[in-house]
This record gives sequence, structure tokens and C-alpha cells, in this order.
Amino acid sequence: MNHPPHAKFLQVLAVCLLVGGALASGHSAALTVPTPNILDTASPNAAEVSKLFWLVMGFSIFVMAIVVAFMVAGIVGGIRDRNHDEEPPQTHGNLKLELAWTIIPMVILAILLIPTLRAIFILDGFAAPENAIEVNVVGRQFWWEMTYRDSGVITANEVVAPVGTPVKLNLASADTMHSFWIPQVAGKTDLIPGNQRTLWFTPDREGVFYGQCAEICGDSHANMRLRLVALSPEKYETWLAAAQQPAKPPQAELAVAGSQLFIDKGCVNCHAVQGVNTYNRTGPDLSHIGSRTSIAAGILPNTRENMIRWLRYTDTVKPGVAMPNLGLSQEEAESLTAYLETLTLPGFDIERAFGDAPTKAASTQAAPPTPQPNDTLEKRVENPR
Ligand code: CUA
Repeated sequence: MNHPPHAKFLQVLAVCLLVGGALASGHSAALTVPTPNILDTASPNAAEVSKLFWLVMGFSIFVMAIVVAFMVAGIVGGIRDRNHDEEPPQTHGNLKLELAWTIIPMVILAILLIPTLRAIFILDGFAAPENAIEVNVVGRQFWWEMTYRDSGVITANEVVAPVGTPVKLNLASADTMHSFWIPQVAGKTDLIPGNQRTLWFTPDREGVFYGQCAEICGDSHANMRLRLVALSPEKYETWLAAAQQPAKPPQAELAVAGSQLFIDKGCVNCHAVQGVNTYNRTGPDLSHIGSRTSIAAGILPNTRENMIRWLRYTDTVKPGVAMPNLGLSQEEAESLTAYLETLTLPGFDIERAFGDAPTKAASTQAAPPTPQPNDTLEKRVENPR
């Protein structure tokens, strides 16, 4: 049976919409991470970028409306005139038209240039106010190291900052190029090996804001995430004091056994825990891992199940990761997890700091899909050949 061409087109369109719809719904079911809305800003710095966006958008819509209007007029006129076979008037070499479509875009671009330059100067890292909290950020394959200049506090994959105080980040890379991007507070800034870059912003409300490495840096580039935890100034002071204290030593039998495994299995060679060993910049500092909202560079919510999975199947969860698969048994992983859970910030509870704001609980829904260890892998790990 022969369909007219437009029927075929409609069929193809229908199939595309169905497949697209199915993909989109499957996608959102699995990926319930609240995608940061760039326009829902959490700092005046990001608001500058957002203002520029709307300005450019406004001009674009204006230009598009004019082009579409001419196009529609042309099509409608052409259809009405269908029976005329004379050639339409030729406009090649029309000086007025040529001048018009050269000068008008120039004027539009010149108008856009002024606010763009203004924003560039405001957002420049060197323009950070004097009272800014300085944090050194080092991008590594595939995680972020944060060191607070004044207090010496070290965190990983989380920038904790007070609302209303500027934060200046000194960005560097330890290996390849990365790009620091927490869309709701500031634009992207590349981390270039051998080169120091700066970025600054002032969080203007409390919350947990998601970030992502925005420069292809290897296998787990997409798994190199981070968060900004913006706290009220009082809560920030409590956090800062707690972050300088070692966690309480483990009491429960399982956790004590885990603390021994932490040494026996060689975890201490790369990871530091305050009061146990000193930080050597190989792997993230774990002094207060129990209080972090996420693990594995922000890809997994910090829950018991996820920690066990992460410890046992490091390379499946985060391909290309430097942490080796130690071939831990389920019991060993549970014991280590019990120990890591005790490493919390003394006197500071991140869950309580937010009340019902998004933290660990919300980051459970915020969990991106992570590769599940498949059966064969599980068997291979349990019965290594
Ligand atoms: Cu680091 Cu992409």
C-alpha cells in the first residue's frame, strides 16, 4: 500500500515521539537526580550569568520572530500566487538589504558586549572581596580535594561555606585538565596543570548545590561530581570547629575490627584519618567521611549499602578509579563500613543542620544510576580463580 509522502513523514514523527517519550520517562525514573537549574541561582555571581542569559535570549527571540514572520509571509504569499509562473523580482546586489543585515547584527552584538564585559570583570577571580574564605581546590582523577587556607581543614568533593561570606577558590590540577562547575553559584572554570586559576562566589541561601567536572578528564569524568554545602554562619562555625577535631574512636566490636582492617588492608597508605595517620594527598581524607552527604566523588549517597558496594566493586562503580579492588569479602566490607560510619564530625550533624532541606535523605533520591555489580563479577570476586 502506497502512502502519500506526508503520511510517511507523520508516521516517522509518531515513532520518534513514542521512542523519545519512552526514553525520557525511563530516564527520569532511573535518574531522579535534581538537575541543577542554572537559572535558579544561589549567588549574586550566578545571577549575573543568568541576567546575561535572559538578555541574549530576549534578543534571540526578537530576531527569530522577525525572521519567522518574513518566512511565513513568503510561504503564504507563494501559496496564494501558485498559478503565476512569472519569475519573482530579483534582489541580488540590493545595497540597502546588504547594509541592513550587516549593521543590525553589529549593533545587537555591540549592545550585548557591554553587559558581557561588565560581568567578566565582576566574576573575575581576582575581584574576590578581601574578606573571602580561601579554599585551595585540586582536581584529581577522579575527585576533588579542598583545603581551607586559614584553618587547614581538608575535605573531599564538598565545599562547605557560610551564607553571605564570599568564597574564593584557588583551582589547580594534579594530573590532567578538569573544570570546576557548580552551576547555581558560578560559571565553569578550567583547572589546568601547572596553572593556578581562581573563582569566587557568595552563597546567598542555605542548601546543597550540585556540581560536576565539566572537562573530559578520563574514564570517570562523568563520575567526578561535587557539592556545595551552604550553611548559616552559626552552623558554619560549628562545622569548622568540628572539622578540626578527630572523630570519636570506634566502640562497637564490628567497627573496631574495621579500624584494624583499615590498617591491615593498606587503606592507610592512601587515605588519612585525623588521629590515625597524616594526610598524604593520594586519596581523599576520610577523617569525617561518616558526615559526608555522598561517597565516591559525589556519585553515591552515603548509605551503608552504597559504602559496602563501593568498597567491594570500586572499579565497577567508578571506572578508571585509582583505588584498587582489594577483593574484600562481604564481611570485611561490612566491618570497614561500620568503622567509616563512626568517622563523623564531633558535635555537628549535617542532617540536623538542614532540618528537612536536601542532604543525605534527599541525596538518596538524588542518586544517579550506578553500575550494579553483575552476577559474574560477584562470583569472580567471591571465588577468585
Ligand atoms: Cu575531571 Cu572531568
